[in-house]
Amino acid sequence: MSNGTMNQLTPAPDAWNFAPDEALLGLSALSVRSVLGSIKAGMDPSDDRPVIPLGHGDPSAFPCFRTAPEAVEAVSAALHSGEHNSYPTGVGLEPARRSIARHLSLDLPYELSPDDVYLTSGCSQAIEIVCSVLAGRPGAHNILLPRPGYLFYEARAAFNGMEARYFDLLPDRDWEADLDAVEALADGNTVAMVLVNPGNPCGNVYSYDHLAKVAETARKLGIFVIADEVYAHLTFGKKRFVPMGVFGSVAPVLTLGSISKRWVVPGWRLGWIVTNDPNGVFRRTKLVESIKSYLDISCDPATFVQGAIPELLENTKQEFFDKTVDILRQTADICWEKLKGISGITCPSKPEGSMFVMVKLDLSCLQDIKDDMDFCCKLAKEESVVVLPGCAVGYKNWVRITFAIGPSSLEDGLARLKSFCSRHSETNK
Ligand SMILES: Cc1ncc(COP(=O)(O)O)c(C=O)c1O
Repeated sequence: MSNGTMNQLTPAPDAWNFAPDEALLGLSALSVRSVLGSIKAGMDPSDDRPVIPLGHGDPSAFPCFRTAPEAVEAVSAALHSGEHNSYPTGVGLEPARRSIARHLSLDLPYELSPDDVYLTSGCSQAIEIVCSVLAGRPGAHNILLPRPGYLFYEARAAFNGMEARYFDLLPDRDWEADLDAVEALADGNTVAMVLVNPGNPCGNVYSYDHLAKVAETARKLGIFVIADEVYAHLTFGKKRFVPMGVFGSVAPVLTLGSISKRWVVPGWRLGWIVTNDPNGVFRRTKLVESIKSYLDISCDPATFVQGAIPELLENTKQEFFDKTVDILRQTADICWEKLKGISGITCPSKPEGSMFVMVKLDLSCLQDIKDDMDFCCKLAKEESVVVLPGCAVGYKNWVRITFAIGPSSLEDGLARLKSFCSRHSETNK
């Protein structure tokens, strides 16, 4: 082809018919991944100390958080069987749905059926689906989200044209939801409220009584409860984990979960949406039909991981779960004790669940720090320690610290955090 012909066929560089959605481009700022990426970009490559990752909730790289051998066996057996190489069904493989229903029913006053379970690509896709389905027509509905919270909900709501309204979690009440605010925010277009339990980012665990009040409030307002239980059973304080589904007959509950956290395999991408609704509200309102329809036009988790689920759930030994929770208890204790001795930050309550704790920055003590993002960028640059700024969880001038890493790395990271804070407290003395 001569140059002359190429010039005729190739459009000028500005002639393509694509125009980006500016709102979409802005949404990546709400993702933990992208915020941590920009913090890490400013790190000092000449620092030869190991980077201490206290920013994200994926401890799978640490040997003490290696997944259960039974889980690996289950996936390996599913692959070797040769029976899981086909496309799965939209809702997920029946044996996997049945075993998840059985597994979750152990903690409920009623029995779930396999038809209550929809398999998703991690809990993230469960959030994506639920937000898409609940949004309805653009502008039709609004959703109530906790603050601080997991901003993926906000991003998915915005992407679907659904307004997000925020109710506070109260730091001086162990991060309970402000249910008066929930009542004040709701109107005739409010479709649901979200609760994350055990909590990300606060590390709290809700009591039975508080969850009962949440259900009563939702019933009074005529809204569904979305219970994000991706950290289910990762509790190590006084309160045991109570699934929101226990209150499914008071108000209908969509439970979202996955194997990412409890089995420490976030890369396996297997999650679920479960309808906890003994009164059949989701069927009557066609929410179930909407979820199925959405699943027909979306991707599925890998078939062999779905195929491994029955063995994974049934064979994983209690010792594995106990060991994970024991390490989390130990690292939460280390975190709580060490944070107490650091100037410029305060921690309102000891974490009792999940993998995180929220700490408040006292900017009047940290004299050359502008805000939470500045704190995290300077900490990463000077100490190779990564923590998540509060702006990434909707809470300015706080930071979220992950304690789910190996204990010695955690001690190292917290010692570096301490010297960073004392250095920055001293500069302007
Ligand atoms: C509250 C919450 N929900 C959902 C997710 C996503 O879970 P998954 O890794 O299973 O997609 C996370 C991940 O960190 C989370 O913290």
